[in-house]
Amino acid sequence: MKKKKRSWAEPYKIKTVELIEMKDLKEREEAIVEAGFNTFLLKSKDVYIDLLTDSGTSAMSDLQWAAMMRGDESYAGSKNFYELEDTVKKFYGYKHLVPTHQGRGAENIMSQILIKKGDFIPGNMYFTTTRLHQEMAGGQFIDVIVDEAHDPENTFPFKGNVDIEKMQELVDRVGADRVPYISLEGNVNMAGGQPFSIANLKELHAFCKKHNILIMLDATRTVENAYFIKIQEKGYEDKSIEEILLEICSYTDGCTISAKKDCLVNIGGFFACNDDEIYRRAQNLVVIYEGLHTYGGLAGRDMAAMAQGIRESVMFEHQQARVGQVKYLGEQIRDYGVPIVEPVGSHAIFLNAGKILSHLDQDEYPAQTLSAELYIENGIRSMERGNVSAGRDPGTGQNRRPKLELIRLTIPRRVYTQAHMDVVAESVAAVYERRKNIKGLEMTYEPEYLRFFQSRFKRKK
Ligand code: F0G
Repeated sequence: MKKKKRSWAEPYKIKTVELIEMKDLKEREEAIVEAGFNTFLLKSKDVYIDLLTDSGTSAMSDLQWAAMMRGDESYAGSKNFYELEDTVKKFYGYKHLVPTHQGRGAENIMSQILIKKGDFIPGNMYFTTTRLHQEMAGGQFIDVIVDEAHDPENTFPFKGNVDIEKMQELVDRVGADRVPYISLEGNVNMAGGQPFSIANLKELHAFCKKHNILIMLDATRTVENAYFIKIQEKGYEDKSIEEILLEICSYTDGCTISAKKDCLVNIGGFFACNDDEIYRRAQNLVVIYEGLHTYGGLAGRDMAAMAQGIRESVMFEHQQARVGQVKYLGEQIRDYGVPIVEPVGSHAIFLNAGKILSHLDQDEYPAQTLSAELYIENGIRSMERGNVSAGRDPGTGQNRRPKLELIRLTIPRRVYTQAHMDVVAESVAAVYERRKNIKGLEMTYEPEYLRFFQSRFKRKK
């Protein structure tokens, strides 16, 4: 008799579908050449399964769509702002809210307020836009994530943890007064979607209190981090995601967030904090870059959809299916022997392009190459997260050549089915099989900022 098992299933049924089309091989080859071998420059009509990002790509629920109809589009004092403010207070615990058009809008404002020229900003690994805003405000990013996070094969369950010794070394070297805050990210994107533990956060909190350093959370995927704490940290099994999220935020002083991920909306973000003076300054700055402080670049209906999205994001069944789907894809790909970042995180499968295309030099952009090949193979769009994303060192002007040379297959929330995941795994396996014959790339155009978005390449001879 077959062993009894209990599967999870999505806690929803599908009400609307969007048709997708697979272009033939010749069309795909033409499309990637036209896009300069950069998947950001592909047209979405040429993409079959779009795993570029989980940012703004979620399917909204009927309740979110209904909330959009309740959008109050007043310029000032929209009722949706007050509803969102209450919701953020209830689920994240912060006293003050400043909405922004997306995450980087909030990062801009926070960096300008908290960073002085010559400051150092430690963080549990960099994120592209976050670090750039820190640098533009005159700060220097310092990586203080645990060493395990830089090793794609290490299976440590909390690779998002901060190495407190690295914090101590920084403080000893530059002095605590030049470290205004630590930028702490939940489910660290660039490390593979890896969580921190509450135990580590408590330790960090004690350290920061002692040295008068703020903890500013990048809460973009922190509900997913809370889910990982529930399923893997001792003592948290019986707590709800809602309780864990509040506990995480209680050890921090504020956050920036791209609401386009956890919060299940297509656009939006915010800055939140507890300090009245920081809030006053954020409220003032937002009017320069985003809009009045009660809409921050969003329509009233966007704020309404976000508030409902936050309520849905903390539901256990939602996170179980969300993370379960990513894990399922990871298992399929691993079964084909393809090297991936371990352990599988919450939002994506990261293929170890450096290892798969080990015959290429890092300056032949193995990850960029692999991402283009996966598109050619079957119309699947992924994202480079390696040498191109890391950019150049502002000091030396050389490529940063990061330890992690990865491509990211990012799963939008509530969008694709398990059958799509099977097709993705089979396509990855097909590229893996022909890996030895794959040639690297040469950069032909390099923009000044965040080059991965718009740089162009050609195939090396
Ligand atoms: N912080 C993290 C951890 C992110 O992943 C992102 C965006 C941002 C900040 C910036 O937010 O895009 O709303 O301005 N990540 C997207 C991604 C782009 O594909 O990973 P944004």
